[in-house]
Amino acid sequence: MYRTRNDLPESARTKLVELLNARLADAIDLQTQCKQAHWNVKGPEFIALHKLFDEVNEAVEEYVDLIAERAVQLGGVADGTARVAAERSSLPEYPVKGGDGREHVGALSAVLAAFGKLVRAEIDRANELSDADTADLFTEVSRGVDKWLWFVEAHLQAER
Ligand SMILES: [Fe+2]
Repeated sequence: MYRTRNDLPESARTKLVELLNARLADAIDLQTQCKQAHWNVKGPEFIALHKLFDEVNEAVEEYVDLIAERAVQLGGVADGTARVAAERSSLPEYPVKGGDGREHVGALSAVLAAFGKLVRAEIDRANELSDADTADLFTEVSRGVDKWLWFVEAHLQAER
């Protein structure tokens, strides 16, 4: 940890940096999965899904930056290389090998939901560590992920 004039106690900042880095690895993993879907999707809904998956990727790229920079603001080091992300990510590998649009929608919905659940849990953890700002950051990310989950999942929700 670096010395900082930030008034949050070092013990809290150390734990916060740890959980921020855990979610950073997930977010980087998620971003690559959005691109994987963006590149490989095919079928009658190609252009809509191709564009949507890239929009999700761009949003996730912003979450990556928010999470990484918060870790540094708290005196920590952001661990955001591909190798570290692959090693630490809690998300499963992207499962779709072919181009089927429905399969990509299903896979991206599943990974967005898994990431959303992990991020939502960090809101409470950050609050327990008396860091309303990190809680707010995770709330912002979680709200965004919920929106993108809706955008993707809506393709499968025509029938209830
Ligand atoms: Fe592209």
